[in-house]
Amino acid sequence: MKVITAIKDMHAEILKQKGLGKTIGFVPTMGFLHEGHLTLLKQARKENDIVVLSIFVNPLQFGPNEDFSTYPRDFERDLALAEAEKVDYVFYPSVEEMYPHKPSVKAVVQERTDVLCGESRPGHFDGVATVLTKLFNIMTPTRAYFGKKDAQQVAVIHGLIADFNFPIELIAVDIVREADGLAKSSRNVNLLPVERQQAAVLYRSLQKAKTAIDLGERNPESLINMIKEMISSESTGQIDYVETLSYPQLKPLEKLESTIIIALAVNFSKVRLIDNFIIQID
Ligand code: PAJ
Repeated sequence: MKVITAIKDMHAEILKQKGLGKTIGFVPTMGFLHEGHLTLLKQARKENDIVVLSIFVNPLQFGPNEDFSTYPRDFERDLALAEAEKVDYVFYPSVEEMYPHKPSVKAVVQERTDVLCGESRPGHFDGVATVLTKLFNIMTPTRAYFGKKDAQQVAVIHGLIADFNFPIELIAVDIVREADGLAKSSRNVNLLPVERQQAAVLYRSLQKAKTAIDLGERNPESLINMIKEMISSESTGQIDYVETLSYPQLKPLEKLESTIIIALAVNFSKVRLIDNFIIQID
């Protein structure tokens, strides 16, 4: 496994591998790896000759009052985990390497940003699309792997790949959860112990909504209220949003039909957690 910090070195390695006819599987992350990330790496390992992991906490996608400075980091541990997954290259650039000056051009996401996290994190998806445009150009991957935990991110990246004609296959991977159902996240370590216990209610509330749908509930408002009530009564978290939308279009629904997403975000004292179910309605 090679660790590379310079863009030109990374690009040269990729060109060398592509010259040998190798396929490239790319897993972009912000590090502090957990089983969610490792699942993406495992799938990339199965489907490609070469696996590239990037670790870069991208300042462009954090708002001024967000957790860029407290975002957890542990590079040595990440390297050991990457090695165990048989990663070929770890790309670990500095902020100066990725953004040597204020960007003169940035990607602006114009669809699917007026809902869910787009509303409470203005500019966030522009930052994601900008860093991924750079990373896609550096890696020129055959396939790129993303988790459905960030379902809006997956939908936005579909748009980025289609609109900018990146010749990349997007692979969306199911959410990996803790034993009690909490979606794995690098941010979970910043929950207070009592909040960590409460946080499983996010998953349970989605499960309850799914059961109601299975029993015939089709009214979005009733489901949203059911979820909000359950989270408020069983945790100290402050609900940012609970929404039901069409997926992957992310358009509002009057009635639940076809493929939908039920997504939520909840603020705890130091962390904002997100979760979702994507459900096919018959
Ligand atoms: P990060 O939060 O580190 O996540 C990296 C990838 O891991 C994302 O595709 C995310 O959806 C996936 N992931 C995280 N938790 C998961 C879980 N519990 N189950 C399945 N997949 C999970 O998302 C980002 O970084 C950044 O926005 C990035 C795409 C790297 C751009 O900076």
